[in-house]
Amino acid sequence: MNLAIIGSGGREHSLCYKLSKSRIINNIYCIPGNAGTKEFGKNLKADINNFNQLYNIIRDYKIDFIVVGPEVPLVNGIVDFFHKKKIKIFGPNRKASRLEGSKVFLKKFCKKFKIPTARYKEIKNIKQAKNFLNYLNLPVVVKSDGLAAGKGVTICYSKDKAIKDVKNILEGKFKSSKKVIIEEFLQGEEVSYFLITDGKNFKSLGTAQDHKRIGEGDTGLNTGGMGAYSPSLIMNKKIEEKIINKIIKPTIKGMSNIKSTYKGILYAGLIIFQGEPKLIEYNIRLGDPECQVLMMRLKSDLFKLMSFSMNNKLKNSKIYWKKKFSITIVAANKGYPNNFKKNTIVKGLKKIKQSENRKLFHAGTTFNSKSQIVASGGRVLNATVCSKSLKQARKIALDMLKKVNWKNKYFRKDIGFKVIN
Ligand code: AMP
Ligand code: GLY
Repeated sequence: MNLAIIGSGGREHSLCYKLSKSRIINNIYCIPGNAGTKEFGKNLKADINNFNQLYNIIRDYKIDFIVVGPEVPLVNGIVDFFHKKKIKIFGPNRKASRLEGSKVFLKKFCKKFKIPTARYKEIKNIKQAKNFLNYLNLPVVVKSDGLAAGKGVTICYSKDKAIKDVKNILEGKFKSSKKVIIEEFLQGEEVSYFLITDGKNFKSLGTAQDHKRIGEGDTGLNTGGMGAYSPSLIMNKKIEEKIINKIIKPTIKGMSNIKSTYKGILYAGLIIFQGEPKLIEYNIRLGDPECQVLMMRLKSDLFKLMSFSMNNKLKNSKIYWKKKFSITIVAANKGYPNNFKKNTIVKGLKKIKQSENRKLFHAGTTFNSKSQIVASGGRVLNATVCSKSLKQARKIALDMLKKVNWKNKYFRKDIGFKVIN
């Protein structure tokens, strides 16, 4: 079987790594991939949001199965497109992808199926915003409805800031949508919960804790994620049961009821407060860098699980995990998430020892005309380690990144600081 992975980040490199272990797969293609994914197969250049262009490549390379990393093509209906072409593709279709693609859809859905979430209101004008703000304590959260590459949510510590953000969104700051909601800020601990579903049954894919801020001690600007560990240490059996019964099961059943059956991987962003989970968002894909830590711990064949999800056979499947902790630390380009210098040379990667439990996944890397590896994106490398303790895993990951010879290297040394020591 020939398989294609769509995307170019650390998430996709770790998916290549994991899927390459499946005996059923002969060739892996990454579209467009990065300097690391080349290790597992061929990188193919394409615009991942141009489905006709993708189709030509899929046909030319006789690709039988597609796995999609990022959310944008899913929300735009890549699954529906390839279903029509009779090519197997794993993930939710366009209607199901509204769980991430529209915050207004998600909030209405939660209301209809009584899924615990923050109180909210969809805001049509400034007067409505001012009225609703009188009912909420500060801070409040302003959310743009559509996809916004992680920039659509702001936590506002004053009413004036909230009104300013609402106004910008109503006036079209984000191309994806002019709709906006204001919601209450939920206190508590954040946790990411992952699962795979065939639309009826599901299996847990575990938990992870992301670190979104650029600076140590969770300070500074928001990023795509500077590091993660798995499993989350704030989870226990009781909380997991609540997440499953109050949030996950009603979601899968509800989506099926409204003829938007959800198949694929679902990532729930949750806040846990005094043992009670509330949903803050759904993502319709694996997280980046959360995927990297999950793939390091997963023992089962990921391709088989994806096939079971597509063929409604998840019910009797079992998922096996390494009884270890994993951590990933992101090395970013100095200046990220603002401006940074592109195409600086990254050296010393060959000297870094890699094994089953130590991987240096690539994200924003490519080759220059002299075939040297250069940093082309904001997040560039992910040192990902599985070990018997998180502390040990972090030490090894830090040692790996220290060996990278790259003048623009920046990484947080405190990933996991809330639970290590
Ligand atoms: P979202 O895109 O909805 O996940 O929001 C991005 C981030 O904003 C989340 O990962 C949370 O850290 C934070 N956030 C979103 N909604 C809330 C909320 N209602 N209360 C507290 N934090 C929130
Ligand atoms: N790391 C957060 C995300 O992938 O959405």
